[in-house]
Amino acid sequence: MRTVDLIQRKRDGEELAPEEIEHLVEGYTRGDIPDYQMSAFLMAVFFSGMSDREVSRLTECMLRSGETVNLSNVAGVKVDKHSTGGVGDKTSFIVAPLAAAAGVIVPMMSGRSLGHTGGTLDKLESIPGFRTNLTSEEVEKQLSQHGLCFIGQTEKLAPADRKLYALRDVTATVESIPLISSSIMSKKLAEGVDALVLDVKVGSGAFMKKQVDARRLAQTMVGIGRRMDKKVQALITDMNQPLGYAIGNALEIMEASQTLQNAGPADLTKLSIELAARMIHLGKKAATLEEARRTAEKHLVDGSAYRKLKQVVTAQGGNAQALDKFELLPNATGMREITSPRGGYVTSIDAEDIGTASNMIGAGRDKKEDPIDPAVGIILEVKTGEKVDAGSVLCRLYYTKEDHVEEAADMVEDAFRISAQKPDERELILEVVG
Ligand code: URA
Repeated sequence: MRTVDLIQRKRDGEELAPEEIEHLVEGYTRGDIPDYQMSAFLMAVFFSGMSDREVSRLTECMLRSGETVNLSNVAGVKVDKHSTGGVGDKTSFIVAPLAAAAGVIVPMMSGRSLGHTGGTLDKLESIPGFRTNLTSEEVEKQLSQHGLCFIGQTEKLAPADRKLYALRDVTATVESIPLISSSIMSKKLAEGVDALVLDVKVGSGAFMKKQVDARRLAQTMVGIGRRMDKKVQALITDMNQPLGYAIGNALEIMEASQTLQNAGPADLTKLSIELAARMIHLGKKAATLEEARRTAEKHLVDGSAYRKLKQVVTAQGGNAQALDKFELLPNATGMREITSPRGGYVTSIDAEDIGTASNMIGAGRDKKEDPIDPAVGIILEVKTGEKVDAGSVLCRLYYTKEDHVEEAADMVEDAFRISAQKPDERELILEVVG
């Protein structure tokens, strides 16, 4: 089998056979296929797409390129949640304990910040002492004891994806539905879950800017899961403005903590309940979705999910007191207010610009090795649809170094659109797939 022939056939829109996909993934992971050939193949996929059969085979090959997590010693249905990435998305810290408090086993495996979006691991590590590099024995023990753990993806999990993602990042081939789907699903299925709830974001702060693309992404991932005998459900949710009010690592932990104490923003609470309900339902802890919603609400209101998060933070070496006493979390030293230039209604808040501005002051990273500043970020004072006066505060930037504050402040100011006309209300949860 010649790699050049496979590139050519994909370029011409043909479907490749399972063993041909295997040749490409295995050959590239071993180092037999050079970057220039794989780059050409990825670009061919970008333009020609892939059939369901091809995308499933690609996912399977990437999944099998490394170790898979064996959770067969842990009793119960294992369910995880994955978000395709948004700004201010801290639902993992709320959803996972809500589902675990209902008896679902949640091996939550997460990543670090990517582009303008934040990473769950970075946010968790703003809690003093919190450890995400658990051994497999620790994962098993913690899941058996608490039903929940937060871990990072190890180097050994789906190494083909790691290598391919790095290549896609520098060859302008990230935004391809078959490539994103297989990348996400290979990692999620390698972690040994029985079911998965996906939060596919759409809008200015998401990978997918159009609902039609988000739907195709969701359908592709649900299809991959189904063909591998896993239950997968996807919500398509709005990311045209940040979720909640807080953007930045420690700031998001604070907001998640408030939300688990039933004092969080309405949008964040609503989405978290819905995602948790789907996990509880797929995890067979409720007979109907309606019952699962009531269960999730109960665990939010009675504080049991909040207590679950604290137990897990303690079990992973973190100082759980920091979830009550925010002064124990990293705190910024400087603050800058952004005010409205005129009175009117907030018609949009560009989530990507807010995420980028937050990264500029240190909340995210440009390169994989860059350090992040856990203390910094942005707190919105208003959301889309609210009325503001000239001079009223739109948001506050929290920083520890002056370096890029001016630039970030300009970007944030431009992210807000204020107009005389009240905008139509937007739905947060747009569609369910699967
Ligand atoms: N997240 C992933 O893990 N992979 C992609 O390709 C895009 C987002």
